[in-house]
Amino acid sequence: MKLEIQNTWDEKTPHSELSDLARIDLTSESPYDLFREWHEEARKFSTGLPNALCLATVSKDLKVSARHVIIRRIDEDGFVIVTDNRSQKANNLLEVPSAAMCFLWSYFNENNNHVSRQVRVEGTVAPLPRDDYQSLYDREPTFCKIRSLICNQGQEVNWEAQKQIHDKVLKEVHNGERALPMPQHFIGYKLFPETIEFYSAWDHFIGDRIKFQKNSPTNTWKHCRLSA
Ligand SMILES: Cc1cc2nc3c(=O)[nH]c(=O)nc-3n(C[C@H](O)[C@H](O)[C@H](O)COP(=O)(O)O)c2cc1C
Repeated sequence: MKLEIQNTWDEKTPHSELSDLARIDLTSESPYDLFREWHEEARKFSTGLPNALCLATVSKDLKVSARHVIIRRIDEDGFVIVTDNRSQKANNLLEVPSAAMCFLWSYFNENNNHVSRQVRVEGTVAPLPRDDYQSLYDREPTFCKIRSLICNQGQEVNWEAQKQIHDKVLKEVHNGERALPMPQHFIGYKLFPETIEFYSAWDHFIGDRIKFQKNSPTNTWKHCRLSA
């Protein structure tokens, strides 16, 4: 059976006979500045998860996999995430230390334009030293710390047994009988981008794209506009 998916713009924006070209105007030569600008706007208007990104990794036998994670920190030189070092993504990153991140932001801005934006970040990935992501662990809420402790990410699990362990740990935490220190398997990674590509469209405007490419020896960026 075929299921035709109706475009969301058919429902929300009466622009079917209109067309124009969107344009991204740069105020800086740094892709990090544009990223921060867009991310801030998405955080202001998006009712979704503006900190979420889709992370694609690949195994040594070229099996690609993707999953969403949360961006935890943006440094001068890269994008930081945290995860479980026993997971599939961690295994992939050990075998092939390259990854792609894809952010999707969709929202209505202050002028009621329906904005669609995407940022693609590609590059090499390296695990961080523990003391570099300790503060990221420390600020996690209790349920995330308990998840880190009791979940062996990606392993088959018996729900009832997991629930019993969870409830015991939670009780001990509440009674002050158990601390929740950062587990050994909690790990932070940084993706060091080689390219960062921005796509922006709104309403009936055809998307505009700008791709930044890093010049390795100088650590400067050059950019060009790409056809949508
Ligand atoms: C919105 C969202 C955010 C998530 N954030 C994280 C995260 O920051 N770190 C993480 O390890 N898993 C996160 N997950 C779970 C992952 O999508 C995934 O299920 C898990 O990391 C196992 O992936 P893997 O088996 O491919 O390694 C998130 C899931 C969703 C839906």
